[in-house]
Amino acid sequence: MENKSKRKCQPSAFQYCTAKFQKVDMGSVILELPECQEKSLEAYEEIKEDLEEGVIDDLEEKKRQKIQKKFWIKRYQLFSKFDQGIKLDYESWFSVTPEKIARHIAERCKCKIIIDAFAGAGGNTINFAQTCDRVIAIDIDPKKIDLARNNAKIYGVEHKIEFLIGDFFELAPMLKADVVFLSPPWGGPSYINKSILNLENIMSPHGGEKLLEQARKITKEIAYYLPKNINKQQLAIAAGPNCKVEIESNYLDDKIIAKTAYYGNLLKV
Ligand SMILES: C[S@@+](CC[C@H](N)C(=O)[O-])C[C@H]1O[C@@H](n2cnc3c(N)ncnc32)[C@H](O)[C@@H]1O
Repeated sequence: MENKSKRKCQPSAFQYCTAKFQKVDMGSVILELPECQEKSLEAYEEIKEDLEEGVIDDLEEKKRQKIQKKFWIKRYQLFSKFDQGIKLDYESWFSVTPEKIARHIAERCKCKIIIDAFAGAGGNTINFAQTCDRVIAIDIDPKKIDLARNNAKIYGVEHKIEFLIGDFFELAPMLKADVVFLSPPWGGPSYINKSILNLENIMSPHGGEKLLEQARKITKEIAYYLPKNINKQQLAIAAGPNCKVEIESNYLDDKIIAKTAYYGNLLKV
């Protein structure tokens, strides 16, 4: 720890530091990050302990550029109306479903009432509100619901959405809808370290199968947005006897970024 030095950050167009907390001004988005935490957002997990202890590594310019490249540069892919006042918190930068993909899923899930069980900052919710009559947008984190509400307003669809703060596992038995969309947390960037990610690793300790079971209490029409390395065999088994699943690969910039499993009548094939 001793050789780790604190470093004064140089203000730049991209970000600037103040005394204890820095505000990273990303256009209309203000991220609050601990002092001099200029590391790659991707590397945040690695330095979490150091941040807690107040010891921060030197910034590597390359990593700073990586944030710019990886997240900021893709802001319009996340939200085409980004400049009109979209708000995101740290987690949302890497967990929002990019608009093009969210739009595609929303077209496939067209119905009267849809539940977005893990609404986050509203990437999917906003697009469902454009293809469905009504959206029930749930998130356990009240801050995410604030973000989703703000972002839905930017797209002019807030009036079509009912925002609920709560745990989907608890709320599911009380809800009714035509389609349920599941985009649970993938457990941080480490999911990518496994060649095949098993369903039980999703939303542990419940597990991804239990989540599907909860959703089935509402409807059999389910779309399940999952990491690209998800165990496809398990998704097929989870369909149940004589039932099918369609697993779609979702691409952005020619790179596969996720898989969506469709159950029930959402299948195209
Ligand atoms: C991957 S993000 C969803 C991103 C969203 N699809 C979007 O495009 O903005 C997962 C979200 O699930 C929420 N969450 C985690 N556990 C939950 C639970 N038990 N019930 C409801 N929401 C939960 C998290 O707060 C997080 O916002």
